[in-house]
Amino acid sequence: MEITLDSPLDMHLHLRDGDMLKLVAPLSGDFAGAVIMPNLVPPVTEPGGMLAYNQRIREAMGNTPFSCYMTLFFTKQNEQQLALAQSTPSFFAYKLYPAGITTNSEGGVARLAEAENTLKLMEEMGIPLLVHGESHGFVMDREAEFLGVYRQLAQQFPKLRICMEHITTAAALDLLDEFENLCATVTLQHLIITLDDVAGGALQPHLFCKPIAKRPGDRDALLQAALSGHPRLMFGSDSAPHPRCKKEACGCAAGVFTAPLALPKLAEIFARHGALCQLQSFVSGNARRIYGLTPLAKQVTLQNTPMAVPGSYRSYGQQVVPMYAGEHISWSIKS
Ligand code: DOR
Ligand code: ZN
Repeated sequence: MEITLDSPLDMHLHLRDGDMLKLVAPLSGDFAGAVIMPNLVPPVTEPGGMLAYNQRIREAMGNTPFSCYMTLFFTKQNEQQLALAQSTPSFFAYKLYPAGITTNSEGGVARLAEAENTLKLMEEMGIPLLVHGESHGFVMDREAEFLGVYRQLAQQFPKLRICMEHITTAAALDLLDEFENLCATVTLQHLIITLDDVAGGALQPHLFCKPIAKRPGDRDALLQAALSGHPRLMFGSDSAPHPRCKKEACGCAAGVFTAPLALPKLAEIFARHGALCQLQSFVSGNARRIYGLTPLAKQVTLQNTPMAVPGSYRSYGQQVVPMYAGEHISWSIKS
């Protein structure tokens, strides 16, 4: 069996910088493009820094054609600043992090009221808002507690395109269905695992991410939504590499590294459920329609021939462990 995907897109990707960027960027090269997260140290807040980062990504990609949809780390902006960002090549959206909620988000938004003027301008100018939607509450309830904020934003700014990034709950899907101006990304791991896979037995640091994986009912609802071709649900891997020594450590960094196996694993899952025909919308079509994107043309054929996932990826003095390290996935990319 085979399927050929047209310009698959990863709508939420961490590529890091320096040697880690050089190691991981080519491992996303089967995608036609990706939305690039800005939570570097320091975060990417200015169009100039964003352009320079885009250039470093291009160099790390080598000759592989790949569209970078760059994001800026949300801080208060006036109209002139927004206009500058909007006119900068490769700029796609602002990414809003509640202050301190995840890796390198200390400079995020402490009180949403401070962001209102900027959000109003973004609504008028047609600039999308991507949100890491978690409260500072109990870890299993953080996304559920944030849904009220999404609701308020969706009502207050009805023309603002708001993306609920990496949703992990059935309740987030319910909210998605309530507001036309909401869309959402979901990761590979949140379609597959629950908290039991992370911490039900021996702790699995390579499956630890934020938001934390939730209950079986949440995972099942997300999977059903993806398989049934929910029109406002898009694939965003949130592939988030950390050096092996930062994962297999006391104080394990949050993030699951899935970029190199995401497309084969998605094909395996969609095929197993008889839903391969929905994969194109999930990994490209929905994103193109929602954001009006025209990605560069790239066809990727997947086949049900096994892929051996390496125990780790190493080069440039960096080592990173992928999900399914040392295991087989029953689908692979046809080279
Ligand atoms: O697990 C995560 N890792 N969640 C995030 O929101 C950030 C990401 C990272 O940058 O490592
Ligand atoms: Zn992320």
